[in-house]
Amino acid sequence: MTARDVKRRLAKSLAPLQPRRALVAAGRHLTDRALTRAANALGGLEQGRWLAETGSNVPNLADRFAVFDQAMNRLTGSAPLYVEFGVFQGRTMRYWASKVAFPGARFVGFDSFQGLPEDWQPDAQRGSFAVGKPPEIDDPRVSFEVGWFDDTLPNWTVPDHDQLVVNIDCDLYSSTRTVLDWLRTRRAPGTLVYFDDLFNRDHQWRALREWLGHDGAAAQPVAMARWGHHMLFQIPPSS
Ligand SMILES: C[S@@+](CC[C@H](N)C(=O)[O-])C[C@H]1O[C@@H](n2cnc3c(N)ncnc32)[C@H](O)[C@@H]1O
Repeated sequence: MTARDVKRRLAKSLAPLQPRRALVAAGRHLTDRALTRAANALGGLEQGRWLAETGSNVPNLADRFAVFDQAMNRLTGSAPLYVEFGVFQGRTMRYWASKVAFPGARFVGFDSFQGLPEDWQPDAQRGSFAVGKPPEIDDPRVSFEVGWFDDTLPNWTVPDHDQLVVNIDCDLYSSTRTVLDWLRTRRAPGTLVYFDDLFNRDHQWRALREWLGHDGAAAQPVAMARWGHHMLFQIPPSS
């Protein structure tokens, strides 16, 4: 082997290392925000691959309210139970209560109203979204369970209902996991589960992937908005 061959072989074996070297060099200059964006970009790629693998042809709608409208079109009875995890000022609770007219419907909002229990992302740290108390919604069908999900969920008596709708808008991986663990014994054919913040790879997207790999395996994606930032799933009515 000539010196030239050795050099060529060496160059070939080192080639895959060069992009990593460039990444590490670039990483020295990145802010937290930029790193989070990079991680979330990878999450977007993963979501696209997962959609392709599952053969899902999920319509991409304008915004979360369009997704909620799709969820409402899937209500089959007159006594749905809508449970929202992460209420904040009550914008989405109000939307659901104003659009679903059945007297037998119930809308229950879970929130500490103390804000996020942990840091979420650079612009939303622990304590973000603290408003102190539940919103005032003038509808006797609406109620709130105030406290941390870990404390309120185990003692909560689930009201009678003919279909469960779960809106998970609590941002964090840990909070989303608590909700999905609770859901394990509550979901039924027809149950609708909405995730508000799948754009974040380390939080809701991570929790969703784990869920789909275990308890949520039967869940089908049925609508999304903002290219998977918001996504609605349904346990098939016949399963
Ligand atoms: C983004 S806000 C909800 C926004 C609301 N759904 C809306 O559309 O206006 C997230 C909320 O989740 C709540 N939250 C997150 N984790 C929680 C937990 N483990 N227990 C109780 N509340 C939690 C926070 O207090 C915060 O109000």
